[in-house]
Amino acid sequence: MWRARPLLVLLLHVVAEIHALRYSNGYYYQIIENGKANGEIYFNGIRLHVESPESSVSAMQGSNVTLPCHYRYVPELSTPRRTRVKWFWQPATGGGPEKDVMVALGSRHRSYGDFRGRVRLRRSAPGDASLVINPLLIDDKGRYRCEIIDGLEDESVIVELEFRGVVFPYYSPRGRYQLTFQEANEVCEQQGACLATFEQLFAAWEDGLDWCNAGWLADGTAQYPVSVPREACGGTELAAGVRSYGLRHKTLDRFDTFCFTSSIRGEVYFLDHPLKLNFTEGVDACVQDGAHIAKVGELYAAWRFVGLDQCDAGWLADGSVRYPITHPRPNCGPLEPGVRSFGFLPHHLKYGVYCHKVRW
Ligand SMILES: *[C@@H]1O[C@H](CO)[C@@H](O)[C@H](O)[C@H]1NC(C)=O
Ligand SMILES: *[C@@H]1O[C@H](CO)[C@@H](O)[C@H](O)[C@H]1NC(C)=O
Repeated sequence: MWRARPLLVLLLHVVAEIHALRYSNGYYYQIIENGKANGEIYFNGIRLHVESPESSVSAMQGSNVTLPCHYRYVPELSTPRRTRVKWFWQPATGGGPEKDVMVALGSRHRSYGDFRGRVRLRRSAPGDASLVINPLLIDDKGRYRCEIIDGLEDESVIVELEFRGVVFPYYSPRGRYQLTFQEANEVCEQQGACLATFEQLFAAWEDGLDWCNAGWLADGTAQYPVSVPREACGGTELAAGVRSYGLRHKTLDRFDTFCFTSSIRGEVYFLDHPLKLNFTEGVDACVQDGAHIAKVGELYAAWRFVGLDQCDAGWLADGSVRYPITHPRPNCGPLEPGVRSFGFLPHHLKYGVYCHKVRW
């Protein structure tokens, strides 16, 4: 092997020579040092920096989001350069190929695919190449790359986009541990949500979610979050944490489920009504108010992100009766904030009702 060394060194030397001078756009770029790893390139002693103050941004479905990306030349340039900005996207799961989001050169820009018409550059200051997405769709989740192209050189930074949301446990009206994986998917969708991922359940556990029944997650495992180990909940031998039953059989095994919702479109409210209502009257009363009876996911999102706090039990679309508490107080359930549930009740019983009104 050692014999090959002198030749290798020589080759590297030649390559380095070739790359030392590049002709591009009428400028000679002398690359003094290639600093690709830290988002900088150098030419004629001038460096292009590309940076993002946040490597991860979280937002809610239906809202707008700005993915920050800034570039600057050091030392500052007196004449503006024709700098091209390109944004790419890669889905969060599966790691498929990068797709084009948009490209911009001066005032000209173009967006691609599902992003068409929903993205623009913020351009709030020179060097601001931040991407604004409005409205944000659930499939936009993933890894974004901001690439700045100056002549032959390009530098980029990565910004991850995550969804802020709330995880809630859910079980079938038929009872505990009744849902196959497929059914778990369906009931979450019916509540305006989707199956939670392990990362989402873990984040919810960090926020204090404690639930003693195992539920399906999107990856086909069944798990449950425990904050305070106790005898009635798997015993005190195991530490607090998210406990897993591992991958389960999708059609033979039955559990509850954990749903995730990230939507704040519209408003959830307790209907101001002189009388208590049975379930069918509740459904009708929301319609008469120009709304719909709220889904469980919508109530959780309103509780978590709008701070809905109402010590009145009300019907929801699935025939369950619940109420949201952000400021715990006497006669309004336990000491922790949460959505209190009476479970599924016979439809003739009389309660209030929670409605959901969409505002566009
Ligand atoms: C974007 O969201 C902010 C709040 O995060 C809001 O104030 C602003 O009006 C929104 N802009 C658009 C164009 O929807
Ligand atoms: C609710 O009350 C209405 C009368 O106001 C009645 O017609 C309806 O059958 C009741 N629904 C249920 C589920 O009991």
